[in-house]
Amino acid sequence: MTIAIIGAGIAGAACAARLTRQGHQIVVFDKGRSAGGRMSSKRTEQGYLDLGAQYFTARSEAFQAQCHQWLQAGTISRWNGSLAVFDDSGLHPSPDDTERYIGQPAMQAPVVQLLGNISLHCNCPVDQLQFDGNHWQLFSKGIALGSFSQLVLAIPQQQARQLLQPFLPQSPKLATLFAATALLPCWAVNIQLEQPLLPYDAIFVKNHPLSWLARQAAKPGRCRAEHWLLHFSPAFSAQHLEASIDVIVEQAVIALQHISGQPIKAVTTLCHRWRYAQQAPQYPVSGAVYLPALALGLAGDWLNGGRVENAWLSGVQLAQELVL
Ligand code: FAD
Ligand code: NAI
Repeated sequence: MTIAIIGAGIAGAACAARLTRQGHQIVVFDKGRSAGGRMSSKRTEQGYLDLGAQYFTARSEAFQAQCHQWLQAGTISRWNGSLAVFDDSGLHPSPDDTERYIGQPAMQAPVVQLLGNISLHCNCPVDQLQFDGNHWQLFSKGIALGSFSQLVLAIPQQQARQLLQPFLPQSPKLATLFAATALLPCWAVNIQLEQPLLPYDAIFVKNHPLSWLARQAAKPGRCRAEHWLLHFSPAFSAQHLEASIDVIVEQAVIALQHISGQPIKAVTTLCHRWRYAQQAPQYPVSGAVYLPALALGLAGDWLNGGRVENAWLSGVQLAQELVL
């Protein structure tokens, strides 16, 4: 029997790749137009823009080995941006020797590589689940997607909760996972400028409505024009979750003027609201979750401390734990 994986982000892809290597038949479903999830660059007429994940680091031996393979294959490259910090004492350089990586030519490249020839159905939002004690039936807009012996959910916590709502009374463990909020939002704004802005490629911002700024052209493979990507902090993003795009862009321009100390004239702007972006600091880490009685596994960054590396590790851990 086939295993269904909902979610073609890095966690679902890592899980799918491991299970395929173990000889299992896998089908992956994603509501997006293509694989990648939050690790996706946006394709524009001027080139790729990174609105979600900006780079990733590798601290575990397992993920370092995976990154080494991707580097060899050209799936990722090193990103050695010149770094700065903006904090209570202003803007100042903050170089370090951390190895940081980005997908090539776009952030989703590692996810695409992991999925390889695995059966992937995009534009397919799974919105209903049925479990008869042995098999899972999946549905999208009333259409049956098939019958599966095991189900893996590799989607953000709040979206998993919605799908699994009917099963919560059967499983106190599931109810516990969904009791507290795991992922906080992030507003992202990309601003195109006429002139180069600052002598840095990226800025960590502390104690401010913004949390991060990055120059797209400083990243290999991305848009060459002068585009700056701004991420608002979780606190600002939560407080302004339902604000209009005009308000968010206006705030972004004000913030960029404040940090750069220069007047800003935006040529174009692009705004994206990530409802489920960054792990809440107090949410407990469990790696991945497997519930044999329900033939159900859960993986994703939200179970493992956020970040690309932790999402990958969560998918790999779940593949090892699935009892088949
Ligand atoms: P996702 O990437 O969210 O994948 C889940 C997939 O499930 C998505 O493709 C979605 O379309 C699909 N899906 C959801 N519901 C359904 C459904 N019902 N049916 C079908 N498909 C469904 N991490 C870093 O390490 N470095 C960074 O610099 C960094 N910056 C970030 C900046 C932003 C703005 C954001 C949003 C995230 C950032 N992250 C960063 C976090 C990183 O992107 C995530 O930790 C990681 O990509 C999560 O992978 P995942 O597979 O767990 O989930
Ligand atoms: P990392 O080790 O580069 O950064 C971790 C944190 O250390 C940074 O957030 C920053 O506060 C600090 N830091 C690192 N280098 C610094 C420097 N040179 N100067 C000053 N401060 C520095 O990367 P890691 O641990 O892999 O984390 C990934 C990044 O992704 C983090 O920056 C994190 O905040 C960001 N992220 C953003 C999300 C969002 O929604 N905006 C979601 C998930 C992750």
